[in-house]
Amino acid sequence: MRITVVGLGYVGLVTAACLAEWGHRVTGIEVNPARIRALQEGQLPFFEPGLAEILEPAVRRGDLAFAHADDDASLTDADIVIVAVGTHDGNGGWQTATVQTCLTRVVPLLHDDATLVVRSTLPPEYIRQLGDIVDGLRAEVGRPSVAVLLNPEFTREGRAIHDFMEPDRVVIGIVSDPQSHGVERLRGVYERADAPILVMDAVDACLSKLGANLFLATKISFANELARLCEASGATIDNVVAALSHDQRIGGAFLRSGVGFGGSCLPHQVSMTVRTAEASGLDVPLLRAVDHVNREQRTSFVERMRRLLGGSLTDRRVALLGLAFKPDTDDLRDAPSLTVARLLIEAGADVVAYDPMPAARSGAAERVPGLTVVESVGQAVADADAVGIVTEWREFIEADWVAIGLTMRGRILVDGRNALDAEAMRALGFAYEGYGRPAADAILEPAMATAHDAAAAAGVPASA
Ligand code: UGA
Repeated sequence: MRITVVGLGYVGLVTAACLAEWGHRVTGIEVNPARIRALQEGQLPFFEPGLAEILEPAVRRGDLAFAHADDDASLTDADIVIVAVGTHDGNGGWQTATVQTCLTRVVPLLHDDATLVVRSTLPPEYIRQLGDIVDGLRAEVGRPSVAVLLNPEFTREGRAIHDFMEPDRVVIGIVSDPQSHGVERLRGVYERADAPILVMDAVDACLSKLGANLFLATKISFANELARLCEASGATIDNVVAALSHDQRIGGAFLRSGVGFGGSCLPHQVSMTVRTAEASGLDVPLLRAVDHVNREQRTSFVERMRRLLGGSLTDRRVALLGLAFKPDTDDLRDAPSLTVARLLIEAGADVVAYDPMPAARSGAAERVPGLTVVESVGQAVADADAVGIVTEWREFIEADWVAIGLTMRGRILVDGRNALDAEAMRALGFAYEGYGRPAADAILEPAMATAHDAAAAAGVPASA
């Protein structure tokens, strides 16, 4: 199958590479000439585990090529054209102008038997108009209607290749399928996925995508509220969630409490849904609360730091570990780290941050005035009064916390992802505080002279 993917961001590039891996002849087109040049030279615009490993061989085999969006042939010759351009305005609102511009360019060029597939996440009210928009663009050039389908993506950054190749389900929404073979064609593409393929009306497909993310966000905010109840009653969220997760009606996924959800999808899709619903007079109190709880998780991180530091952050040196919105990505979009860093700096702290991803480090330094970004955990924690984990990178979980304790000035540790073992950290002399775990008292003057002494006293091997 000849497939063209329009828009080579996180969704489009993963889609293009995976379809080429499945043996299709894929062209990825994009308006940004610098991105095309970089891809043609073998450089990826972002980090995604496993992407380079399938993309480079596909390009070498000739199954995957990149071209500028003005390349007509990639549109006129394609059996399937997949639209994967961005649709949010970066400010909690939908932005449909880009997809509209894209359709205006793409639709008139499609051959009469082509199938147009929209993979970008769009609001239901736009999806309801999509058939008329496409038919109108075809009519303007005197050409017949084409099949128009929605094919929402359910791929997590950091796991996108896996999620594409082995999805839990594939959803195909029908906007229009005049000759009735658009759906069969797309179904054929996904045969390799060995997953249930659900075919439905396009608006249902749109709500299936939004509904999945809204539910995941709700689970996280629920876990965070449950963590508050745990803190208030001296319970431990880890045990409570472990018990909940054995109930098959609940499950254990997306119940990790901490600094809350970030990224380009969950926060925006919650706030965009709330905004759109309210504008049309629809009350969505649950989703408003999901958003509210999530925002508070970030401010709560700063308040924990402040309290443990004796009530003031002024001139305190705070090390932040983790900038990307989650591990295994370098994406900073709506990353909790940026809010936390800004709030700490506003409160007078001297904030030094580290993330294993160079792009996350440089991006954060650009976006947060006053933030110092360093190249290693060691540089971040040296002389720090407090350290906070914002992203649960393996590097931080496996770090030598004895050595970290020795190089710090204070021993405050706020674990924004409940990533570390609270008891082990306290045994090392840290005033450790997670979310929903019994609180620590501030240890400004640790009783133990050094982390080594603490480790020895606790019987924990000190490797530093
Ligand atoms: C999310 C969905 O999981 C994907 O299915 C969807 O395709 C994608 O959005 C999208 O709409 O494009 P993603 O934003 O990559 O994927 O990240 P998630 O893995 O969902 O994590 C989102 C945020 O929630 C992260 O900041 C993560 O740290 C946080 N999180 C996750 C928690 O705070 N607790 C949890 O238990 C799980």
